[in-house]
Amino acid sequence: MIIDGKVVSSLIKENVKKEVETIKAKYNKTPSLAVVLVGENPASLVYVSNKEKACEKAGIKSIMVKMDESSSEEEVVLKVRELAQDENVNAILVQLPLPGHINKDNVLKEIPFNKDADGLTHENVARLSLNEESIVPCTPMGVVDLLKYYNIPIDGANVAILGRSILVGKPLQMLLTNLNSTVTLCHSKTKNLNEITKKADIVVAAIGSPKFLKADMVKEGAVVVDVGINRLESGIVGDADFDELINKCSYITPVPGGCGLMTVAELLNNTIKCFYSQNK
Ligand code: GUN
Repeated sequence: MIIDGKVVSSLIKENVKKEVETIKAKYNKTPSLAVVLVGENPASLVYVSNKEKACEKAGIKSIMVKMDESSSEEEVVLKVRELAQDENVNAILVQLPLPGHINKDNVLKEIPFNKDADGLTHENVARLSLNEESIVPCTPMGVVDLLKYYNIPIDGANVAILGRSILVGKPLQMLLTNLNSTVTLCHSKTKNLNEITKKADIVVAAIGSPKFLKADMVKEGAVVVDVGINRLESGIVGDADFDELINKCSYITPVPGGCGLMTVAELLNNTIKCFYSQNK
């Protein structure tokens, strides 16, 4: 069965829209998200434009901050610091990757934890690992919401995650562990990868390698969640070989139309969360 990211993300976005109306009526304020984009990475330009459109549709004020590729680390740090201090900015997202000459950690440190739309600051990462209330990175939250919507058992499930990024693999490992899955976080140095993936009830592919996950790597009836977005000449493909896997899986997310839509919806949700943590 194909997991429909459009259906689930639309439900989240509808909820956000209602929440924005409530906020406007109760606080006479419009929740806002500032997105900082440094340079012109083509994929980032697409992501950022999708985020801007989604904000607009939901009634969230989007503040686009586009900075030149040649901006210094200090310039970016100062810009984020300014947004952090601005009362009219509820949430901040620094689009990654940043140009090579900028240390992302020095930039992310400037985001207050309650304006951290991406859940990437030390405070939020620590809270997630401690299973405390936190802002959770958007893509992992989207993966969990998809599984929940389709009533796919998480409690007690064996999950193999391919990819240990700070945006997906690592936070998803913590999130699913908190929800009682047994998680194996695999990466480029993992030995006997197939043995691990073949035992998994749920396999999450988040490595950025087109069609990497093949049918012979998963067990019959497994759930495959494809987080990859790879731009090839032939079009956009995920990290899983959809055509091979569709006949072997019980559930699979398509690319496009799966996790990508969820990331944007969860970002809107996180913006609302940030608003409320600043307006109690
Ligand atoms: N680059 C690709 N996906 C994301 C995301 O979800 N957040 C940020 N900040 N950068 C990204």
